[in-house]
Amino acid sequence: MAECCSASGYEDLFNAKEAEKSLRSYEKDGLDETGRALVEYMTSRGLKDRTILEAGGGIGALQVELIKSGAASVVNVELSGEYEAVATALLAKQGIADRVERRIGDFTEVAAELEADDVVLHRVICCYPFMERLMIAAMSASSRLVAASFPRDRLVVKTRVALENAWHKIRSAEFRAYVHDPDAIVATARSQGFGVVFWDRNFSWNAAVFERV
Ligand SMILES: C[S@@+](CC[C@H](N)C(=O)[O-])C[C@H]1O[C@@H](n2cnc3c(N)ncnc32)[C@H](O)[C@@H]1O
Repeated sequence: MAECCSASGYEDLFNAKEAEKSLRSYEKDGLDETGRALVEYMTSRGLKDRTILEAGGGIGALQVELIKSGAASVVNVELSGEYEAVATALLAKQGIADRVERRIGDFTEVAAELEADDVVLHRVICCYPFMERLMIAAMSASSRLVAASFPRDRLVVKTRVALENAWHKIRSAEFRAYVHDPDAIVATARSQGFGVVFWDRNFSWNAAVFERV
């Protein structure tokens, strides 16, 4: 990881306090709108007995919903180790700890050893500088779907991300957020033999599902 993305750079932002905040939000309101859209689409395609691989799954809220919707198991690869206490408690509370394996590391570095029916990148592409590397890793590990959410390429969103990055710079934080070009994301998927089968969007986010054709 010499050229990018130290775990400590991620753990500075995606820390235990952030994990507690995500848990409160999930327990109060359930999944965010984009996460719900991805789970609903994946469920409509049939999750029973499917294996799932998630990159950057945070506290594991999506993992809970996918298992509840019929998925057999999930492997999560997360750069920040700071979510683990909250995630472990959440999965135990839901009675599904034995169906979720959580690993710490850069997904792009381990994806070649992993395979699953469906791969999920929910709000992760925006947190990694190398969109193509992430997408290609996800697609190489997936035998069926890759479900992803990423920011919309709009001035208002780009301005917000630029302000957030300015704040990270002021406090000398290593982390930066990215609005990767959605057309380039689709082009990368196509280059790997995947087509778009679902697209949804709200004010700030795109939710897209790609399928191996
Ligand atoms: C905005 S958070 C989203 C967490 C969760 N998916 C959610 O929506 O609540 C982005 C997460 O992606 C993780 N991440 C970014 N790039 C990653 C990579 N290459 N491999 C594994 N995790 C990554 C970060 O550590 C962070 O926890």
